[in-house]
Amino acid sequence: MKTKIVVLTGAGISAESGIKTFRDSGGLWENHRVEDVASTEGWNNNQQLVLNFYNQRRKQLLERKPNRAHFALAELERKYDVTVITQNVDDLHERAGSANVIHLHGELLKARSCVDENLIYNWNKDILEGDVCERGAQLRPHIVWFGEAVPLMETAAPIVRDADIFIVVGTSLVVYPAAGLVNYTRYEIPKWLIDANDIPLPRVPHLKFINEKATIGVDYLVNLLLTEN
Ligand code: APR
Repeated sequence: MKTKIVVLTGAGISAESGIKTFRDSGGLWENHRVEDVASTEGWNNNQQLVLNFYNQRRKQLLERKPNRAHFALAELERKYDVTVITQNVDDLHERAGSANVIHLHGELLKARSCVDENLIYNWNKDILEGDVCERGAQLRPHIVWFGEAVPLMETAAPIVRDADIFIVVGTSLVVYPAAGLVNYTRYEIPKWLIDANDIPLPRVPHLKFINEKATIGVDYLVNLLLTEN
């Protein structure tokens, strides 16, 4: 049986593809307060603003490409059983070739019904007011906003518990429950954290920190893991 690697990624892995991270631009996300565009209150207050915001993000994503870090993680599958658990809503892991990607916080290229969270549609154009699901209700971005449950945690937690190697890339680990996944890892397994900044490290045993940008750090670690016995 192949060794199981689980990789938890955040906005930092897509930064070098030209997608902004959340917490290094003075608390603003693409010039908006996060609460205005990424919460249920924000949606209830101003649906048009929220739709426009994600329409812009979707357009931008379609112009971006995976970077060396996304491709390197896909290469790990030559030797390992790899699951990527991402907080990112972009599809750059998939485009780089990763086969098993869990999107904890939803996906920008999907829309979903406001009345039934199981009615989800592939969507690569704008979502407009008046675009409705098959039950006639307004469509919204398929994004987990602040104040909403993270249903895929139940899928992700046992996969993390089962990991033989755990890698974290480009996340500030401040948003729960996703950040708590680190604590589901087994005591004895090797853990790696790659981040461009000198961030506070989670208190888990056998953790090594690679203080590099994702393109450099992930490439280095993947080479190491592909060449060792
Ligand atoms: N390479 C590696 N790491 C980087 C790079 C890079 N080129 N650029 C930035 N980083 C690091 C930052 O140092 C930071 O630790 O990436 C991390 C990004 O952190 P955040 O912006 O907080 O993003 P993330 O942790 O993914 O946010 C979690 O918050 O707003 C919500 O739902 C949203 O999924 C998101 C969640």
